[in-house]
Amino acid sequence: MRKSTGYAAAVAAIAIGSALPFMVVAQTPPKPSVRLADVMSALQSRHSKLWTAAQQRNWELAAYELEQVKAGLADAIGLYNDIPVTNVTMIDGPLKSIDGAIAARSGPAFTKAFGELTAGCNACHQSVGRGFIVMTIPTMSPFGNQSFVPSVGQGKDISRR
Ligand code: HEC
Repeated sequence: MRKSTGYAAAVAAIAIGSALPFMVVAQTPPKPSVRLADVMSALQSRHSKLWTAAQQRNWELAAYELEQVKAGLADAIGLYNDIPVTNVTMIDGPLKSIDGAIAARSGPAFTKAFGELTAGCNACHQSVGRGFIVMTIPTMSPFGNQSFVPSVGQGKDISRR
């Protein structure tokens, strides 16, 4: 729906006039431009944030980041048709264990499950000829602009929903 509206608008813009030559660029309808490597880069951020949040025992943020990881994996699977099913199911178990660890607010259970998740990331990379992309347990957070410490009153907005 949106695409055709955009396209119609582009055509209309061209019809309005050659006086606006820069609009002609809009003649080609936009192509879907999500690249798997970009989805993976976002996934890398979430993998890191998930770890950092759990280290700070910010379980609410950890739960949120876990959802982002799941969504990123779902996007990746949608984009990449040749992914062996076993690689997807390998990730499933660790994701469920992380869910459980967050619900139980258990640091040790989280650490174990996160290690398994990371091994799952690497198993898929190896199986698709990307064994040179090696994920590790984060040693530090690159996100100096985000606090991972639980804050007072956190979660008020969410419980209102
Ligand atoms: C089912 C397969 C699969 C799983 C699972 C997977 N990846 Fe990937 N990943 C890929 C593929 C394929 C590429 C290479 C994409 C390309 O070359 O376009 C990739 C590339 C990457 C890259 C490189 C991106 C860049 O531009 O530098 C990172 C980082 C990455 N993955 C992180 C992760 C993390 C973190 C996880 C686990 C939470 C994960 N991946 C799980 C298949 C997978």
